[in-house]
Amino acid sequence: MTDAADTLSPAASGPAIVMTAAGLVKRYGHVVALDGADFELARGEILAVVGDNGAGKSSLIKALTGAEIPDRGHIHLDGSEVHFKNPLSARLSGIETVYQELAVATQLNITQNLFLGRELRKPGILGTLFRQLDKARMQRQAADHMRNLGIRVQSINQKVETLSGGQRQAVAVARAAAWGRRVVILDEPTAALGVRETNQVLDLIIRVRDQGLSVVLISHSMPNVFQIADRIHIHRLGRRAAVVSPKTTSRSDVVAVMTGALEPSAVASALINQSVGIGR
Ligand SMILES: Nc1ncnc2c1ncn2[C@@H]1O[C@H](COP(=O)(O)OP(=O)(O)O)[C@@H](O)[C@H]1O
Ligand SMILES: [Mg+2]
Repeated sequence: MTDAADTLSPAASGPAIVMTAAGLVKRYGHVVALDGADFELARGEILAVVGDNGAGKSSLIKALTGAEIPDRGHIHLDGSEVHFKNPLSARLSGIETVYQELAVATQLNITQNLFLGRELRKPGILGTLFRQLDKARMQRQAADHMRNLGIRVQSINQKVETLSGGQRQAVAVARAAAWGRRVVILDEPTAALGVRETNQVLDLIIRVRDQGLSVVLISHSMPNVFQIADRIHIHRLGRRAAVVSPKTTSRSDVVAVMTGALEPSAVASALINQSVGIGR
């Protein structure tokens, strides 16, 4: 939740494209991690980002979320150019990221995790002067939020260490969905999970999308990607090689473009905004 929002429910409206990047360059010494990368994220879609190890997926996400500042290129959010200086400035613009390493505090309960760093204070002098937490309001909102996302837990006062791996990841995703007003970015959210838990998290990602948020899903799992992605951004050698639809492009063709066995031009483009110069 940012200062602009007062509840845990996201709202989405506006043009079809929420975020674009054009010509992103990021060098680490002699290594070119991003070599003129473009990016396009539509409102209310699940965009999978796939690519070989070292293709530059994490570098792309870091550039989009203020974790790294690109050497060149432009990023637009809802049509306005943005220059994120750090992850906080991206968060304040409504972009939340869940990193692969568990993004929850296990010794805290679910409500405390959802409001971590953004606790609600009691109204009036108790909150402003004495900084008293409004636990009842946080518990109410946390319960509503978890229910809206269809995440079942025994109690929102349950410590996260008592949850299964899938439930913990669900709390991390729920937290991002609660505060991300525009974009939720998930880096390999199911990498450490079994089949059943993976499916629960995939279902949750679909519900987050259905609330109107845009989801970027970095994943190595082609089955997962083909199960839930609306579009697939294929990253190769530091740039976007192609954007395809899982409905019209086969898994083997996606892998072939990823590895360079197939020319990107051989797969149909699923770019939404085809106009030259968008986001520049
Ligand atoms: N902080 C860094 N310092 C030096 N090289 C880096 C750094 N981060 C990434 N790289 C290099 O940039 C390239 C892209 O990395 P990365 O974005 O992590 O790819 P991916 O996430 O697709 O595996 C790789 O060659 C990687 O070794
Ligand atoms: Mg990576």
